[in-house]
Amino acid sequence: MLSYQHAFHAGNHADVVKHLCWMGVLNSLKKKDKPFTLYDSHAGAGTYNLKDDMSAKNQEFLTGISALANVTPSADLLREYLALCNTFMSESCYPGSPAISVAEKRSDDVLHLMELHPAEHSKLEQNIKALRVKNVRLHKRDGYEGLRALTPPKPNRGAILIDPPYERASEYNDVLKGVKDVFKRWQQAQIVVWYPLLSARAGAKHGASEKMLEQLTELGRPCFKAEICIAENEHDAGMYGSGVLVINPPWQLDQQLSCALLEAVEHMGPLASTNLTWLNKDA
Ligand SMILES: C[S@@+](CC[C@H](N)C(=O)[O-])C[C@H]1O[C@@H](n2cnc3c(N)ncnc32)[C@H](O)[C@@H]1O
Repeated sequence: MLSYQHAFHAGNHADVVKHLCWMGVLNSLKKKDKPFTLYDSHAGAGTYNLKDDMSAKNQEFLTGISALANVTPSADLLREYLALCNTFMSESCYPGSPAISVAEKRSDDVLHLMELHPAEHSKLEQNIKALRVKNVRLHKRDGYEGLRALTPPKPNRGAILIDPPYERASEYNDVLKGVKDVFKRWQQAQIVVWYPLLSARAGAKHGASEKMLEQLTELGRPCFKAEICIAENEHDAGMYGSGVLVINPPWQLDQQLSCALLEAVEHMGPLASTNLTWLNKDA
């Protein structure tokens, strides 16, 4: 049932948009001295060796993080993201969302990492233990069940990353339900939902992200979406891009992320483009 392994995709264009956004959320939480709590509902293995067989198979990182390797960025958020990635890339690795959270959080900030796949969980355990950081809790459990059990945090500031594999068409509804469940108990949660943009070849999943975005927008919370596309949306393109929906976004994240994405896509191929659109601004 759980067959997805993120190592095949580590460092690709989807990771770039997702991780830039997540770093922007973390930066803004760190502006206050008060501790915060982070939840990564679908954590993956934590870090990825880009030379291992899985990552090396399709080398998806070549059109993602590797395309940015020689960039001297002017956007602050892109500079910070690349500086962190470069520390991993110097050892042919890429930081997954858990490694980014671990690197960015302060010692009193709490990080919950949930990963259901037993093999991915044990890699996560190994990778995170090696980083020796306080206040990181690993959970081998369903991410949505974990969010229900572990939110709201005390004190009640923090953010959630929801990054499912979307292998099954039903996962789009799982996200919607998961977000609704969080808001029943934690109104202030800042939530980042990653989603794929799939061409008609995807069959039942074609258009599913767009429908999910509409349903999440109807929850009435302030939210914007930010996307990177690296190909035209032609029938056979497959995943031609992806995006993040940010619900209850921190102040000015839209501007910081937009600057970073505009600069990044300049280096990601002739068809690369980006957009950031508010879906509910005055909610
Ligand atoms: C896209 S990957 C996560 C990548 C990671 N967030 C990052 O950015 O580095 C999705 C992960 O979710 C895991 N997964 C799938 N269904 C899950 C569930 N219901 N609860 C927790 N983890 C799940 C998969 O095993 C996979 O490792």
